[in-house]
Amino acid sequence: MRSKSTKQEDMDSTLTHTQLNPESGIKTDSFYNDVIKGLQSSPKRLNSKYFYDANGDKLFQELMGCEEYYPTNCELEIFSERTNEITNALIASGDAFDLIELGAGDAMKSTYLLKDLLDKKADFTYLPIDISDNVISYLNITLPVTLPGLKITGLNGEYFDMLQKAASISSRRKVVLFLGSNIGNMAVPEAIEFCRELRNNLSEGDMVLIGMDLKKDPKVVLAAYNDKGGITKRFNLNLLERINRELQADFDLTKFDHYPTYDPETGACKSYLISLEDQKVNISGKETITFMKDEYIYMEISQKFTIMQTDQIAINTGFVPLTQFFDGKKWFVDAVWIAGTI
Ligand code: AVI
Repeated sequence: MRSKSTKQEDMDSTLTHTQLNPESGIKTDSFYNDVIKGLQSSPKRLNSKYFYDANGDKLFQELMGCEEYYPTNCELEIFSERTNEITNALIASGDAFDLIELGAGDAMKSTYLLKDLLDKKADFTYLPIDISDNVISYLNITLPVTLPGLKITGLNGEYFDMLQKAASISSRRKVVLFLGSNIGNMAVPEAIEFCRELRNNLSEGDMVLIGMDLKKDPKVVLAAYNDKGGITKRFNLNLLERINRELQADFDLTKFDHYPTYDPETGACKSYLISLEDQKVNISGKETITFMKDEYIYMEISQKFTIMQTDQIAINTGFVPLTQFFDGKKWFVDAVWIAGTI
């Protein structure tokens, strides 16, 4: 299951065009402003949403296939082994619905659900949302071929803008997929704010299927973000390379090292890049950033949750937790929440 499918290889070559199409990426202005603001802050930080250029997409695909990175395998296990129960929960009363996926990517996991929903003759339209127009064109073209009969309307843009667009297209019940523990790439207060905004964009009775990575043996967590093959390191350094290329900077990648940490108490797994010497980096010929030896750039959080915490987040943000699906090791949960009264 973890080996790259032909579909994934097709997608890799499609995604390469992201690099060639400036319109498909994040606007250079906001990228520049965010980078400068982050590197002029104390402590220095960069936003992990910028990891995903064409090269970052490829490195992330590589990461998902590496031995230590367990979350993808866990969620795939849930989706492949509990398909029937999951789709039954989503079909609920049997009324027609829109199945919206936030950050659909290659839709590999959701394909299990889509196929089963089609087999069950559920009345639904699939609306994948992604910031990359390449991803959306790819899904619009390929999914109706692999899944005959699938009604699909891909939406290219920011999550909440596109959720509003989805609501304007149809008034049917909404079922939102937010998979892969993408929620973990926000610090807990930000994740709570995100869920609250999600709830505000839904109507009572709508549903969310959310994937969240759970707290476990700290060594297992840390190893997933410190793989022996060094893919995570390259994944982090790739952002510096992207800044060099897109913002004409002169980061020397050999002068930074990858340093991941995991705090079992808070569940925060964080990645840093450490400056190996005193150095200066110029960006766009305009700004000079000074690094001291051993100074860090905070790159990413991958938050791990307790099961109780996942329920609390639901309750505190206007949802009612309905049911939970776990992998065999209980390392990962896909939880179904219903939008409650607000
Ligand atoms: C996309 N996201 C959920 C991944 C994670 O586990 O936080 C990104 C990642 N970063 C390093 N490895 C994987």
